[in-house]
Amino acid sequence: MKRVRVKASATSANLGAGFDVLGLALDEPYDIVEVEPADRLSIRIMGRGWKSIPVEPEKNTAGLVAKAMGKDVLITIHSYIRPASGLGSSAAPAAGAAFAINELFSLGLSREELVPIAAKGEVAAAGMAHADNVGPCLMGGLTIVCGDRVVSLDMPDIGIVAVLPSFEVSTKAARELLPDCIPVKEMALNVGKACMLVAGASRKDPRMIGRSLADSFNEKYRSPLIKGYEGVKAAALGRGAYGVAISGSGPAMIALCPDECSKEIARGMREEFAAYGVPCESYVTRVGGGVEII
Ligand code: HSE
Repeated sequence: MKRVRVKASATSANLGAGFDVLGLALDEPYDIVEVEPADRLSIRIMGRGWKSIPVEPEKNTAGLVAKAMGKDVLITIHSYIRPASGLGSSAAPAAGAAFAINELFSLGLSREELVPIAAKGEVAAAGMAHADNVGPCLMGGLTIVCGDRVVSLDMPDIGIVAVLPSFEVSTKAARELLPDCIPVKEMALNVGKACMLVAGASRKDPRMIGRSLADSFNEKYRSPLIKGYEGVKAAALGRGAYGVAISGSGPAMIALCPDECSKEIARGMREEFAAYGVPCESYVTRVGGGVEII
């Protein structure tokens, strides 16, 4: 039987108030995932962060997906998304493996049907299944996850800057920082912001999307983990960004902006991190279209 090779891109979950619900596919960076039939389930990892990613199937996000799909395969992950960065590095192999196994064994599942399967892989990284990274990775664009349902919306033309400070934040640790209960007022504000963001996408209004990014949950409880957060955010907004948010559980920060401002915003954010003594790297990218065979 053949081997299937796919490109599975980075994603930015939460988008401010849409905690565990909203996610955006990025065009870059991306992992390459190869799946081929084998006598037993095994995983090979090369590329970025290979030392820190477990190869035991039950501890690996792609491995858990193959187990959930009941397939013995060799999964080769060419990892280019930095682990523990907030850009969906654990989701890309999970979504890529789900898509490739579906293709390899002609299972006939839709992208949408693959989302809850791929989400099971996230247990290995986050301690629980969440689909706000695997959703956009599989379906592209902006996705909204509600239980087992996922909807993808096209985004307007918009520039994306992702800046990754050099330190790591584990999703598990960042989840432990969050309170179990929040005041009703905060909940209402966050629901409003998330709805406005979706309205902005459906109206193809980048400014409305950007303005809806600031939240009082993810940002409030997790930004103290990111040294220089407020300064870096101000640097992006001062250079024309529509809005800024923590990407997923961080430490990456994402700015949505007019395309022509992207490079200047990336430079400003990097310089601001540097002023806090934090080395970082950046991507100037666009909205991604979802996992694809290459
Ligand atoms: N919604 C998840 C979290 C995304 O914020 O914990 C992790 O990338």
